[in-house]
Amino acid sequence: MKFFTLVIYLLLQLATRSIRPAIAQSWPVHDNGLNKVVSGRDHYSLIVNGERVFVWSGELHLWRIPVPELWQDILEKIKAAGFNGIGLYELWGWHAPNNETLDFETGAHDFATIFDIAKVLGLYVVYRPGPHSNAEATGGGFPGWLTTGEYGPLRDDDPRYTAAWERYSGAVAEYVRPHLITNGGPVILWQIENEYGVQWLDPDAKVPNETAIAYMEQLQNHHRAWEIDVPFMGNNPNMWTRSWSKDYGNTGAEVDLYGLDHYPACWTCNLEICLPVNGAVEPYTVFDYYTHFQQVSPTQPSFLMEFQGGSYNPWDGPAGGCGELMDSIWVNMFYRHNLAEKVSAVNIYMLMGGTNWGNLGFPEVGTSYDYSSPIHENRLISEKYNEGKLFGLFMRVARDFAKVERIGNGTAYTTNAEVMATELRNPDTGARFYITRHDYSPSTEKSQFRLRISTESGNFLVPQQGSLTLDSISSKTIVTDFRIGATNKKIAYSKVEILTVSDLGERQVVVLWAPRGEDGEILLRGATSAKVASDNAGAETSFTVTEHGLIANFKIQERNIVIDIDNGVQLVVVDRDSGYQIWAPTLTADPQAWENKTVLVHGPYLVRSAAIDGDSLALRGDWSNETAVEIWAPSDIREVTFNGDKLATERSAYGSLIGLLPATQVTVDTIAAQLPSLGSWKVANGLPESALEYDDSRWTDANHMTTPNFSPPDTYPVLYADEYGYQAGNLLWRGHFNVTEDKRPSSAYLRVIGGLASGFSAYVNGHFVGTWLGSISNKTGELKVSLEDVQFNVGADNVLFIIQDTTGKDQREGAPDPRGILNASLFASDGSSLNFTSWKLTGNAGGNHLIEPVRGTWNEGGLHAERLGWHLPGFDDSDWEDGLPSEGFKGADARFYRTVVSLDMPRGFDVHLGFELNRLPHAKLRAQLYVNGYMFGKIIPISNEFSFPVFPGILNYHGENTIGLSI
Ligand code: GAL
Repeated sequence: MKFFTLVIYLLLQLATRSIRPAIAQSWPVHDNGLNKVVSGRDHYSLIVNGERVFVWSGELHLWRIPVPELWQDILEKIKAAGFNGIGLYELWGWHAPNNETLDFETGAHDFATIFDIAKVLGLYVVYRPGPHSNAEATGGGFPGWLTTGEYGPLRDDDPRYTAAWERYSGAVAEYVRPHLITNGGPVILWQIENEYGVQWLDPDAKVPNETAIAYMEQLQNHHRAWEIDVPFMGNNPNMWTRSWSKDYGNTGAEVDLYGLDHYPACWTCNLEICLPVNGAVEPYTVFDYYTHFQQVSPTQPSFLMEFQGGSYNPWDGPAGGCGELMDSIWVNMFYRHNLAEKVSAVNIYMLMGGTNWGNLGFPEVGTSYDYSSPIHENRLISEKYNEGKLFGLFMRVARDFAKVERIGNGTAYTTNAEVMATELRNPDTGARFYITRHDYSPSTEKSQFRLRISTESGNFLVPQQGSLTLDSISSKTIVTDFRIGATNKKIAYSKVEILTVSDLGERQVVVLWAPRGEDGEILLRGATSAKVASDNAGAETSFTVTEHGLIANFKIQERNIVIDIDNGVQLVVVDRDSGYQIWAPTLTADPQAWENKTVLVHGPYLVRSAAIDGDSLALRGDWSNETAVEIWAPSDIREVTFNGDKLATERSAYGSLIGLLPATQVTVDTIAAQLPSLGSWKVANGLPESALEYDDSRWTDANHMTTPNFSPPDTYPVLYADEYGYQAGNLLWRGHFNVTEDKRPSSAYLRVIGGLASGFSAYVNGHFVGTWLGSISNKTGELKVSLEDVQFNVGADNVLFIIQDTTGKDQREGAPDPRGILNASLFASDGSSLNFTSWKLTGNAGGNHLIEPVRGTWNEGGLHAERLGWHLPGFDDSDWEDGLPSEGFKGADARFYRTVVSLDMPRGFDVHLGFELNRLPHAKLRAQLYVNGYMFGKIIPISNEFSFPVFPGILNYHGENTIGLSI
């Protein structure tokens, strides 16, 4: 007896502990004296133009997509997936090649169109201009000239640094101000600094870091003075540092809105770097954000300013990245888990990674910034995109979620001890959301359970027939008292997830989805009868009228099931594959995308937009194979066009319009057949600088005997390229020295710093003496070389030539780390040293004073070919020899290959092209690929990535293309 009592008691305790009633509390709405109508926020959500918003945003980097004509394509894809916002970093260095120039005009440096596109499509913008950004960009976005030490250690209140960012940030503020929501634009939030989690010397004891506080105050005061009147937000790097929240600190430097960034599956494919930081977890472990936000920012919306879209791939990472660690099943569980954590604003980082072209990367990241993103580097949408769309289109109509309280969580909600649920409730409407998952989130079980829910009509154990299923790594959101659009019709509960709702006036279409083979059960309040309107045999449909309304039961199958309910609701039940093909384009530019301003389209690869004019519906989208299309639109639509062409449609028995998009004439195969072969090349010597007699008289004198840098070199003069005005790619050094009959060098010691994965080669009097191939763990290369085989010139000039390939500057406090030579020493056989008489240096043509602003400051380094413009279209190579990169060459030398090919891609087709380079496995080389002057591919000895997508617009699809290859 006693035993039983104990068990029951324990169970009760468990139940009471996890299912707590909400504590009624009223929360302040903050507006900080700003325009309250457009930008309020409270414990629940952001309030924009008087409406609560679940912010569903994704990040893209415009400078990684340097073809402004493509931005609309990408934003349309983002909008189509149900997002209502985008996050945009800015990079100071992209705009400021030197401290006098600020370029917001040339090419992609002029990004104002992005705001116009966002406005027209109905996407809010979270703008994040730095000064420091991180973003796996060289120097974290800091311009090279800022990182020499001359401006101090950076990110503090040093007047030298302050004066520099004031110029940049002031110009950005002026440029972007017209696009603030307060001025009619789409920008709703402005991030001040990035991941600057240093407010406290001790976050528990709240010991203030006065320097950081002074800097944050300056930043905010300036931005307010520049009339940036949207809320300022922060992006705290982790859950420990708790910086800049008004609810946590009171130093006067806190921002209006606290944001957290988090990467549960690691921000890099190199798990060793981040697993320890995240707490050495198993894949698929979810994190507790709720406690953190309630501790740090309880009166503000819980905002995941960066939440994992994918991860970046280091130089030695797997080809194609590590997307399997965060694929569509990951998306399914982790996006929903954020809801369980009462998060009401998320910015997915990255939603489209873009490309790591030129020298814009920081040392750790390889050539790709695909980032395993939902939208790939080549702009294709992925399965992950489609899985995310199931979530995004649901959240767009789950309006009650923008004001929820977390009521409780635990396994006591379910009939299976392995499965837990979190209950969230809207205090105004009573609508509830139950987020279910395996209690042990990495569980590989497939589990059955029933869920205890509360509704206006009472408590239920659902489903009433059968059970709920959870696949391994998955989550389901079960809603109760869910209002259908702006009507009074309600779903009392649904066992299967709602995909989206479209209110067509005369009827409301509710799309429900679940994996194929599962059962559905839905209780529609007040409904009394229903019929299956599609002719689905085997749908196992049944309807039961209860005192609360009508229960529909059905089995999810490959074909959509359409059920007409007598209250005017039409259920469309789809499986996951079919759900991936459902689109809900909006008819207005309102980011809120109201249910009565959408139509539904099933079928195509992508539906970009919809517009109604009279009785005609114009759709725009993408497809290639023959595609059946089904459209749910208001009943007075008589005509449909797709990309401007008439689409013949028939009306189905249940009111939808059914048509067929024919297979396109152009296919991957027909395009492949049209691609030019890269069979004919010209070649020239790419490294004349190694020769003794090379004339370096016009190179920069490297003669500084002191340095502003914090880490002085071992030997002088100072050979840090940064302070001589060169910041990117290859750097070339020539050290001159004399020898006498009695004293000549027999060895040299070289320590060269170029960043992780950088490399260098050394030559004396044209004779190759050694190379450092690069290492993923060492930013500095070291060589001790023998000079026994070198021919010296007694009484005349001798030259040590070093070419180093740098991999960008480190981020954050690592930015001032120099790039150049730390130690260059010559030793005679008796161990005594010899001096250099002078040093010369070159890097990219023009250095910080750019010759060609459009491709910008990071495109070129100092390779001979780059300095002479061999990579550019129009260079005359007529007197070069023929030569094939596939034949290559032997030895420690360099060649530059050029070819010009024509493309004539079919118009009206979105063709994505790329290059693949195959390296002989034993070849230890560094290669760079140039497409019409843009460096769009790079191989280093430890690379695994040999595939390089190139955007149309970089490639000329209707004319000549100059391809350059440096080896
Ligand atoms: C974040 C940072 C981003 C980016 C990301 C990892 O912490 O804010 O700029 O570096 O990590 O990809």
